[in-house]
Amino acid sequence: MNEPRNLDLLPEILPQDPLHWADAWIKEAAAAQVQRNPNAMTLVTVGPEGNPSARMVLLKEFVPDPGYLVFYTNYQSRKAAEIAASSRVAALFHWDAVGRQIRIEGVALRSPDSESDEYFATRDWGSQLGAWGSDQSAPIDSRQALLRQIRERARTLGLKIGPGGDSLLDENPPQINRPPHWGGFRLWINAIELWIEGPNRIHDRALWKRNLLRGTENGFSVTPWIGTRLQP
Ligand SMILES: Cc1cc2nc3c(=O)[nH]c(=O)nc-3n(C[C@H](O)[C@H](O)[C@H](O)COP(=O)(O)O)c2cc1C
Repeated sequence: MNEPRNLDLLPEILPQDPLHWADAWIKEAAAAQVQRNPNAMTLVTVGPEGNPSARMVLLKEFVPDPGYLVFYTNYQSRKAAEIAASSRVAALFHWDAVGRQIRIEGVALRSPDSESDEYFATRDWGSQLGAWGSDQSAPIDSRQALLRQIRERARTLGLKIGPGGDSLLDENPPQINRPPHWGGFRLWINAIELWIEGPNRIHDRALWKRNLLRGTENGFSVTPWIGTRLQP
């Protein structure tokens, strides 16, 4: 495969702030245009008995200063229930085509409602209806029952949709507001590892850590990063 690979190793003197490097890697992965969702990341939460669970979510914003990333989901989903019980989470990006991996650990806090409202308003009607129509992670009897539920909820919202649920029959559909059970999480980062594929499996990796000091409802104040190169 003739894919773009950027095998630049990390600098000999590690950058003081890894989040600007991570931000550049995320942007480069998108620019490489070699996968449909370069912003997809694995999100790991921990259940009540200490059992970890993982699933993909989409990164929607990476904020190097002061240092969190944002993803959106259903606040009644399994992942959100686990975050409510234990806010410590991990996230992982892997871009095979460019030989890079980013491992992240931190604390997830709900985004401010105003930010979730703003983002929800930018979504297309299908995604907006999806947020109302699916009780994410809850069981349902059949696919038919799910489609029926979505059609019923579309009707309640005043949306006229086609029988398959994937077409809009209305030229002037009503505005759909964000459901209270759907919104963003800010993952405040307290550890990050940048990993880059090296020749003959002599990969290059470094881990940075810092402390999150309790700040406000939505965030933290932070201590400076301490970076350490690790053996591959
Ligand atoms: C590429 C990809 C991107 C996804 N993005 C999201 C997302 O941004 N938010 C979300 O809630 N689920 C997303 N999902 C679905 C989740 O992986 C998962 O099935 C869902 O959130 C339910 O997880 P839970 O039951 O552990 O809460 C995505 C799945 C894939 C494969």
